[in-house]
Amino acid sequence: MKKERSSFTSRLGFVLAAAGSAVGLGNLWRFPYLAAKYGGGTFLLVYIILAITFGFTIMIAEIAIGRKTRLSCIGAYSALDKRFGFLGWLASLVPVIITPYYCVIGGWVMKYFAEFLSGNSAETTSDAFFGNFISVQTPGALNTPVTWFVLYVLLNAVIVLFGVEKGIEKVSRIMMPVLVILSIIIAGYSLTLPGAMDGLKFYLLPRWEDFSVFTVLGAMGQLFYSMSLAMGIMITYGSYMQKDNILEHSVTQIEVFDTGIAMLAGLMIIPAMVAFSGGDTTLVQQSAGPGLMFGVLPKVFDSMAFGGFIGTIFFLLVLLAALTSSISLMETIVSIVVDKLHISRRTATIGVIVGVLALGLLSCLGYGPLSAIQPLGMAFLDFFDFISNSVIMPIVAFITCLLIGHFVGPKTVIDEVESSGAFHRKKLFVVMIRWIAPVMLIMILVTELLKVAGIIKV
Ligand code: PFF
Repeated sequence: MKKERSSFTSRLGFVLAAAGSAVGLGNLWRFPYLAAKYGGGTFLLVYIILAITFGFTIMIAEIAIGRKTRLSCIGAYSALDKRFGFLGWLASLVPVIITPYYCVIGGWVMKYFAEFLSGNSAETTSDAFFGNFISVQTPGALNTPVTWFVLYVLLNAVIVLFGVEKGIEKVSRIMMPVLVILSIIIAGYSLTLPGAMDGLKFYLLPRWEDFSVFTVLGAMGQLFYSMSLAMGIMITYGSYMQKDNILEHSVTQIEVFDTGIAMLAGLMIIPAMVAFSGGDTTLVQQSAGPGLMFGVLPKVFDSMAFGGFIGTIFFLLVLLAALTSSISLMETIVSIVVDKLHISRRTATIGVIVGVLALGLLSCLGYGPLSAIQPLGMAFLDFFDFISNSVIMPIVAFITCLLIGHFVGPKTVIDEVESSGAFHRKKLFVVMIRWIAPVMLIMILVTELLKVAGIIKV
């Protein structure tokens, strides 16, 4: 029996919901440290070019597949071609890998929010604070990454179990513009720090000597992560999209929104980081890592008037952006479990939470008590990030390109897009999905694998 599928009631509703899922820690936490690591302006330029070509292609294909089939990713691929049913399963694996470690970082944000709220912000400005926190070795101690991770997961659990996501989404819809305005103020302030102008140049001006294949690979992995691509999410969103929604417009809006927030986050963090490092951009590139946001922003707040208050509000807003994303990640897993195992939503949610807690614990302890165990030479969190962003997502995107470009044909997507409006970037779409995207994806995969095997060095 086919159930009537509910739809987003307005075009803006669709864009906001998809953007709410897309904008999260990927923009605020991951983008700035990758941009700093891969050469600032060079990375930014490569990212923007990829977003409007490659990101656009994959996103419009996924949303069109969802809207055409009216199915979430498990059923959608096989509805297009029976032989591709496995792709839905592969794509669903991504949220399963991402959610646990996403919640670990959500826990870090909560910890910083709590420190600022309780007036301890001065402590967080020391260089060693973040490193000491994530590597706590004392078992059973409170105020460790484990404590904050468990709290963060429980917060998600309560929201999902009581079905109040809609409430959170509403709140975040109001908070999102506040986050943007606050980020503009913080970025503006950062730029007045002595030496920040050198940082601004580093962030905005591309330098060819920084360009390498790794810049492209880093930018592409980030694109998947930030825009929630190659993990079935956009297919699901598309399946709820109304038929008269102008697809190309919506995709452009989500892209502009997502990239805009990421750029703003970079503007807040990178020039300040260069300023604090005395203008040494080589040092900045070498030291940028997952701790960047947590290391730099407290220092910015510390030197700002009303910094304690601004920092508290800022971390609260980051927490909200993270929550809307992790809730949509958890929801995705719960709905797959409910559909496939035919169990109640409540049981499924509890099962998913237990799984997230178990897997996330590895990432949580990976910088501390479990640091001796290094799969592929990485800490657990970095390992899960690598497996999802650099291995599974490129594989899913590659097979999607084959499916659309060469098996069912680009016309399937084009017809769906054109059923509701013009498709201006049609030629670009066809060339990308058939040839350029798959070749680039294969390059990513091979290079990443060679890197892991130690055959080439970053
Ligand atoms: N795109 C999100 C971010 O940038 O933080 C991560 C994410 C959220 C991926 C929700 C998938 C998802 F369903």
